[in-house]
Amino acid sequence: MRHASFNLCRNIGGRVVRSILLAAFLALLPAVVLAQGLDPHRIYERKCSGCHEDHAGDFVAANIDYVDGRAIWRASGRPVEAFLSRKHGKLTPSERKVLVDHLNKVAEMGGLYREKCLICHDRAVVLARSRLIIRADKLTGRYSKRDIADFLKTHGRLSLEEAERMTATLRRQLPSSLP
Ligand code: HEC
Ligand code: HEC
Repeated sequence: MRHASFNLCRNIGGRVVRSILLAAFLALLPAVVLAQGLDPHRIYERKCSGCHEDHAGDFVAANIDYVDGRAIWRASGRPVEAFLSRKHGKLTPSERKVLVDHLNKVAEMGGLYREKCLICHDRAVVLARSRLIIRADKLTGRYSKRDIADFLKTHGRLSLEEAERMTATLRRQLPSSLP
């Protein structure tokens, strides 16, 4: 592919053509990168779910703990990035970074949820899917009609920043928010 287009350039012999091709290629690059799926959910689904849980959230709940500010594999006690930095799962370096960041984030929120919410509520995915819904692009109580972002500022002993992230986490549990 690469050789073919280089030869093409040489045959036509035009600098101009070459720079047009280069410009076109650069213009396409972001689209190509997105199409390859640097969305962590896509990466997980393409490269991990064949052998592991269907969804990254279930995978994290089943396998990962959050200890001292980092995600670790429950079974081995090793940090997530140590394991994924070896060949397992055939990730490119950029996919690995996106996935490790994501797993860290999911594990952190999972830990917070376990610590501060699970005592009164079902798992986050169940809470979200049974009681929450998106209205006018806002996460709201399905029956209470509450604005959940507001509600969590004073519910569940979260800091304001945690409340924001928890709102986003709950929102991600809804099937309607999947890409
Ligand atoms: C071809 C199948 C396959 C694919 C693809 C795969 N895994 Fe695995 N994975 C396994 C097997 C088999 C084990 C060992 C299971 C066990 O020890 O119970 C394992 C173990 C693990 C463990 C446990 C490590 C530990 O220290 O306990 C983690 C975490 C893991 N895989 C993450 C991933 C992630 C993330 C991906 C995607 C990037 C992935 N795997 C892709 C088959 C796979
Ligand atoms: C001490 C028990 C308790 C804890 C801890 C708790 N909740 Fe609640 N939560 C409740 C009760 C009870 C309600 C229902 C209140 C109502 O509807 O008036 C509720 C309501 C909610 C709602 C709104 C549901 C709706 O239909 O409007 C959300 C979202 C929620 N909780 C999330 C959380 C999160 C996230 C945490 C952890 C940060 C948490 N809760 C911690 C008891 C608790």
